[in-house]
Amino acid sequence: MDTKTLNPNTDGYFQAAKLLQGGSLVAFPTETVYGLGADAYNSIAVAKVYAAKGRPNFNPLIVHVIDLETARKFAEFNTQALHLAEEFWPGPLTIIVTLKPKSGLSKLITAGLNTVAVRIPSHPVARELLKTFGGPIAAPSANPSGYISATTASHVRNGLNGRIQAVLNGGKCNIGLESTIIMPKDGKCYILRSGGVPVDDIEALIGSRALSQQDPLSPKSPGQLASHYAPKAQLRMNVNTAFEDEYMIGFGDITGQINLSSCGDLVEAAANLFSYLHMADEDARTLRKTKIAVAPIPLNGLGAAINDRLKRASTPSS
Ligand code: TXA
Ligand code: MG
Repeated sequence: MDTKTLNPNTDGYFQAAKLLQGGSLVAFPTETVYGLGADAYNSIAVAKVYAAKGRPNFNPLIVHVIDLETARKFAEFNTQALHLAEEFWPGPLTIIVTLKPKSGLSKLITAGLNTVAVRIPSHPVARELLKTFGGPIAAPSANPSGYISATTASHVRNGLNGRIQAVLNGGKCNIGLESTIIMPKDGKCYILRSGGVPVDDIEALIGSRALSQQDPLSPKSPGQLASHYAPKAQLRMNVNTAFEDEYMIGFGDITGQINLSSCGDLVEAAANLFSYLHMADEDARTLRKTKIAVAPIPLNGLGAAINDRLKRASTPSS
């Protein structure tokens, strides 16, 4: 299947929104770089994003919304976050805010964290797509993992042709650099990635210095944490037969209390991973099991990212 190029007109937006609603992937332009979009409420669609990019881990994704009202359905904004949003949105700023419990967003987007990265883009094509689709769109940059970000529709095609259904062609992105990522927390602002909004502009607004990743107080970016989402119960990997005190998460023919994918589909397994880890943690206690065991997951395709995450989950947090 070749990736279809859609034009930014009524028919193009309609087709793009329909593809997203059906769980397919559509790349679209933003003012920073092209994003690789999926329905933020659909875990299978989000799992396909990681597969298409060939990401070796589940680094969490940015959720794109049309307005603050949509974002407040699934996220909690403190005063500082609201202040930043009012000043810089729509625009190239991503704000890390608290995820509402039972938000309904795919747990794969946040990789099981209780925070979520949100952005309101200003690009007219991104905005029209968000309007036509009518909900939040999860989107990392639309490039294969480890490659530079795409700033034209042909960059997207060069990198991802055949791996995604369509790309909305909005020409060249004018900023050409990813969004600045900021985490307002306990009265301080941490810059997790520099980008489209200069740090000086942020400091002028908040009236104090923003702290960088180098600051010892700064929260580590999720990818750097060895134990980043760990269930409370101790976790053992590559298990064929569980011990008496272990709650078993199966895969394929190796069954358990629950099964990530009984047909051995890695996209389905990735989509289920974080919600099943949470479920296992809760159910284990009810069943008086103190540990969690997970069946072997092959290393091909999304298997690499699943194994990476399980490895982190089996490393006790310090
Ligand atoms: O300009 C951009 O930001 C582009 C366009 C498409 O919006 N998107 C983009 O996404 O650059 P991506 O996936 O390449 O980078 C997202 C970054 C990752 O470094 C990830 O670690 C961070 O956002 N991130 C996502 N959720 C986070 C969270 N809850 N806490 C901290 N960092 C988070
Ligand atoms: Mg990227």
